Order: sequence, then C-alpha cells, then structure tokens
Amino acid sequence: MEALSFTWANGQPALRGCHLELPHPGLWMLVGSNGSGKSTLLRLIVGLLPPCGGLIDMPGKAALVFQNPDHQLLMPSCGSDLQLSLPEGLSPQERQARADVLLAQVGLAGLHHRPIHTLSGGQKQRLAIAGALASSATLLLLDEPTALLDPNSQQDVLALIRALCSRPHQPLSALWITHRLEELDSCDGAARMERGQVGPWQSGQALRRSLTPLPSGPTER
Ligand SMILES: Nc1ncnc2c1ncn2[C@@H]1O[C@H](COP(=O)(O)OP(=O)(O)OP(=O)(O)O)[C@@H](O)[C@H]1O
Ligand SMILES: [Mg+2]
Repeated sequence: MEALSFTWANGQPALRGCHLELPHPGLWMLVGSNGSGKSTLLRLIVGLLPPCGGLIDMPGKAALVFQNPDHQLLMPSCGSDLQLSLPEGLSPQERQARADVLLAQVGLAGLHHRPIHTLSGGQKQRLAIAGALASSATLLLLDEPTALLDPNSQQDVLALIRALCSRPHQPLSALWITHRLEELDSCDGAARMERGQVGPWQSGQALRRSLTPLPSGPTER
C-alpha cells in the first residue's frame, strides 16, 4: 500500500498517506490505539471500502476474519458454512472432500455435520479461518481475532495461524491486529499504527518492550 488515504463521509479522516508492505509471507502484526485506523485499513485491503487516494497492489486474494465469529458464520452446520466459501464449479463430492480437508486443517476434523451453535468460541474462530482458506485467500486479515477468547483458545488460534504462515508449501501471509501485547512474541514482524499511518516493521519483542511500561521501582520517601 502506498500513500493510502481514506476519509469517512462525515469528514473524519481514518488513513493519512499510509504506507505498508509485507516483506514476505508470514505473520505480521499491527498494534495501535483505539481509532488509529487499523480496522479501516483492513476494510480497504479487502475491498469493502474504496480508497480516497493512493494505491493497493496485492498479488492474490485477501479474506477478513472478524473479532466475533458469530458475525461471519451464517449457516447451521460447519460443513454447510464452508460450502458457502468454496469456489463454484466443483461437484458435490469435491465440495464435501474439500470441506473435510479444511476442517482437518483447522483442527475440526469430523465436525462436518456439527451445528455451529454447539461450537466453543475458539472452535468458531477456527471455522471462520477455514472459511477464509476455502476462498483461496493467500492473505488473511485478522481483526483482533482472539479478543473474545479464553487463554487456551487464544493460544490455539495463534498457533494455527503461525503454522499456516510457516508451512513449507505455499506459506500464507497474515496481517493480525491485536491489543494483546503478549501475542507480539509470535510474529515475524510488528508495526505500530497511529493517526492513520503505519510505522516501520520491527521485531514483535522490541515493539512489545517499547509499549510495556517499566515496572515502577520502590517509592521514594
Ligand atoms: N462507519 C464509520 N463512520 C464514521 N467514522 C468511522 C466509522 N468507522 C470508524 N470511523 C472512524 O475512523 C477512525 C478509525 O477507526 P477504526 O475503527 O479503523 O480504528 P481502530 O484502530 O480499528 O480502533 P479500535 O482499536 O478501537 O478497533 C476513528 O476515528 C473512527 O471513529
Ligand atoms: Mg478496530
């Protein structure tokens, strides 16, 4: 993305000449204060909003994964929901087989007929990720995907994305927004977004250190 700008209809600027380049496939994280433009940036990348200025040059397809999977899972069962995201032109047998492979990839093997409302929050989030993979996306855009999850499910989702982004054959790229600073330790690079602009990539640990307040020492008398 080069010099990307976006202003809402009410005159509120959200992106101000924003530059961002993913150096290679991998897990890239963005942190930034509320209202800094992170979610707006993802919406522009995936094409839900048109830029007011600047360029987006993206090889391949992007897919969004929301904070709340209930906002993107639409069908009654795991298998039927995945069918929605699969490309057209496949036979029913191929669709079933592809859906089963995707479920296995996200740790939900055998749950084809399971009603979605019986899944845990972490399982729902992994099903939403399978839906993104079903659409043949090569860039996953994850907007605080673990914000509603307990620590174990948070770890599961992070480990899944980490594995997809480091697999030897066709590794994916992921752009992951978080307010949970401990997640920065798992990324290939992290950047800070403020006032509609993304800063330079640095290691997740370095960015985490710069954002974590130092423990206060003994009170002086
Ligand atoms: N639908 C909208 N209409 C008008 N302004 C909006 C709309 N959505 C977001 N904004 C504004 O755009 C700016 C960027 O918002 P955005 O949601 O992208 O921030 P964010 O970094 O994702 O924040 P958070 O960490 O709270 O999720 C904010 O000033 C916000 O008020
Ligand atoms: Mg947001």
